[in-house]
Amino acid sequence: MAEAAETVRLFFALWPASDLQAKLAAWAKQVAGKGREMRRENLHLTLAFLGATDAALVPDLIALAAGARFTPIRLPLDRVGYWKHNRIIWCGAGEEPQALAALVRDLRARLDAAGIRYDPKPFVSHVTLVRNASGLPPSPGWIPLVWEAGDFALISSTRAEGRVTYQVLQRFPAQSS
Ligand code: 2AM
Repeated sequence: MAEAAETVRLFFALWPASDLQAKLAAWAKQVAGKGREMRRENLHLTLAFLGATDAALVPDLIALAAGARFTPIRLPLDRVGYWKHNRIIWCGAGEEPQALAALVRDLRARLDAAGIRYDPKPFVSHVTLVRNASGLPPSPGWIPLVWEAGDFALISSTRAEGRVTYQVLQRFPAQSS
């Protein structure tokens, strides 16, 4: 009998520098209540979620993503919100930058062309800050930030003893505008 292919849990994301992650994590802690704030080093914005993927496809994914053409993304983090359906507190841009939407379209089109599956839900850009939350406090005290993203990344996710660890497998830089 053929052995089952080894799989890895993968997604593409914008990965913030650690100083931005620290600011987001500090706010998340303030508003988490009985929810669970994301660990600082895990904060990110997902572009395309692949989930369990044949590990042998990783080099193909790296080649495919390296072909994506995009300019640096200036992402205002000027909104915070709470989604009841998945009980998360998030931050994001009131108006999604065109460069971000274009990158997601390009990346997803490349995945389609290669026949690689990903979660097809429409892209709604957000950074999840708190899970299992019951709402936002009446005065959330959010101070708008701007995220200058000069690259995106392929991330693998592993879970051990209930703790999720993300690893940046490869970064893909923007072309200068
Ligand atoms: P979320 O934060 O809104 O839950 C790793 O799980 C990342 O992939 C998270 O940012 C998560 O978004 C995102 N993601 C998108 N689609 C997903 C799916 N079908 N299952 C799990 N995570 C998903």
